Amino acid sequence: MESNKVAVIGAGLMGNGIAQACASAGYDVVNIDTFESAIEKSKAAVEKLFSRKVAKGSMTEEKKAEVLGRLTYSSKFEDVKGAFLVVEAVPEKIEIKKDTFKKVDELADAETVIVSNTSGLSISEIASVTNRPDKVMGAHFFYPAPVMKLLELVRGLVTSDETYETVKGFAEKIGKTTVDAPEFPGFMVNRILVPMQNEAAFMVMEGSKPEDVDNAMKLGCNHPMGPIELTDFVGIDTMLATMTGLYNGFHDSKYRPCPLLETMVKSGMLGKKSGLGFYKYDEKGNKIGSNF
Ligand code: 3HC
Repeated sequence: MESNKVAVIGAGLMGNGIAQACASAGYDVVNIDTFESAIEKSKAAVEKLFSRKVAKGSMTEEKKAEVLGRLTYSSKFEDVKGAFLVVEAVPEKIEIKKDTFKKVDELADAETVIVSNTSGLSISEIASVTNRPDKVMGAHFFYPAPVMKLLELVRGLVTSDETYETVKGFAEKIGKTTVDAPEFPGFMVNRILVPMQNEAAFMVMEGSKPEDVDNAMKLGCNHPMGPIELTDFVGIDTMLATMTGLYNGFHDSKYRPCPLLETMVKSGMLGKKSGLGFYKYDEKGNKIGSNF
């Protein structure tokens, strides 16, 4: 399909970053979210990030204006029209994903490819609610999406070669390196990473200090962030959803989610985005101390 337009559904942490990455690479992007408040938050976050880059000298004012000029927002699903690619980045709940795919399938052009940024749900199951399962696949970004180099490509049972090539071409254009990940819970990275974060949460539950667990992995293994810090960074709810997906998907007790994570999510402690997680954060998102 001849088009330079990408539609990103969802203006949360991931959708916002994916939209930025696409606009920075030269695509015309519409970031769609039915919640006006999410759109406003997303716009303000991009503006703030780009202004910081300009102040730091890693982005020019011209580039900032150029990229922001290619990035539009909408609260209407109808705006997927004309896009050669739709990237879904809504919350990690199968019913929400399916509902989104049904709507996009009805409104997008017949040739449009639709990818899910799911971190581990079944692509084939998501594709099954559309009339174009051959044009559906997984494209899993990592947080922060504009920075992280990897894109996991996940084919569903009936994803066509043409769809795969379209998404691979898109990945190259936005500067990502791809790996072919299996269509099993957690795909490739999260199946290794998230159980490590879960184990780290168990250690905090047993009495270890978050700083000690983080320093152990930063200084002992050269990880850029410790597992506890990373859990706060991506969102405790997101991490718990992935862990629960591994547990339910493999039916294996080795993936049992740490109860502390469940209690934290139930009490609204979602990490950096809510101001409170394993650590405490000020209104600017700076870490100001430990919560345990
Ligand atoms: N959005 C966009 N850009 C961001 C950003 C964000 N949220 N956070 C940082 N950046 C950019 C900065 O603007 C800066 O760009 P510049 O060099 O052009 O100015 C660059 O990243 C470096 O930022 P900083 O200098 O502020 O910070 P660091 O050098 O400490 O890097 C980091 C920050 C890249 C986040 C680094 O700490 C890191 O790599 N952390 C590990 C991240 C990780 O493991 N991600 C995977 C999470 S798991 C996942 O995503 C799975 C999913 O299913 C949830």
